[in-house]
Amino acid sequence: MTVPEQRLPRSDRPPLVEKVAIVTGASSGIGRALALRLASMGYRVGLIARRGDRLEELAREIDSVGGTAFAAVADVGDRAALHRAFRDLEDAIGPTDVLVANAGFGTPTWLDPVNIDDVENTFRVNLMGVVYAIEAALPGMLARRRGQIVAVSSLAGDRGLPGEAAYCASKAAVNVYLQSLRADLRGRGIRVTTVCPGFVQTEITPLDATLTPFIISADDAARRIARLIDRRRGGVHRFPRRMALLMGIVNRLPDFVLCRLIGHS
Ligand SMILES: NC(=O)c1ccc[n+]([C@@H]2O[C@H](COP(=O)([O-])OP(=O)(O)OC[C@H]3O[C@@H](n4cnc5c(N)ncnc54)[C@H](OP(=O)(O)O)[C@@H]3O)[C@@H](O)[C@H]2O)c1
Repeated sequence: MTVPEQRLPRSDRPPLVEKVAIVTGASSGIGRALALRLASMGYRVGLIARRGDRLEELAREIDSVGGTAFAAVADVGDRAALHRAFRDLEDAIGPTDVLVANAGFGTPTWLDPVNIDDVENTFRVNLMGVVYAIEAALPGMLARRRGQIVAVSSLAGDRGLPGEAAYCASKAAVNVYLQSLRADLRGRGIRVTTVCPGFVQTEITPLDATLTPFIISADDAARRIARLIDRRRGGVHRFPRRMALLMGIVNRLPDFVLCRLIGHS
């Protein structure tokens, strides 16, 4: 679904010398917490998502504590709309130094019939949304020979989990896409950072705590990602550590054991 683009009220603050970060999926969860954190670190922040009211509220919150944030509404899976959002934001706050391609969602994958619309939508948003954002930000970074590309993937990208074929495959594709990019961009001043969280308490997390071992808060996830940005750390980062270790074991289990463990018939 393509949501009409609209501009949101902007701050009157003049362009500053701080760095610029654009965060997709900034209207809730990890993206929202990270945008707040980056603003508190002195970044001018560009906010992208579909829910303009949420972005507007966040931009005001950042403004009220002395930061600078601008918002642009776009569906990340709509290439033209996303590119327009980048242009609008860069006109307002300057060229992107840090891109955080965070927007994403999960939905179960059915077998009979296959819920093909959901599958296509998952790939469009979780994979192409990342690729389109990189397409928008990368030329400027290459020209300036500096920048950082961060994608929020998932520990679920390391193995196809039962019932989650599209989500896991979309995140696996993000991981491998960034792996290639990291090699392509060696020596060109651009860091490529893949972030693979375990469970994070947000709107997409199941409420049943037994299904979400070692869950962390969105603020905690944002703090970890902000640290990777602050230190310009490239590479792949899995957290929290205990969940990453658990998934390391789970990934080696035969399918029948895994299905029994998670009660999947
Ligand atoms: N929560 C977890 O346990 C967990 C674990 C591992 C990885 N992740 C990943 O973390 C990222 C953030 O998710 P979250 O947990 O913070 O969930 P969330 O609170 O639901 O946030 C998702 C964000 O993505 C945006 N979004 C979704 N579809 C979009 C679209 N088509 N176009 C533009 N924006 C879109 C949403 O904004 P609008 O609805 O306003 O567009 C929202 O801002 C996702 O990539 C997710 O896969 C989450």
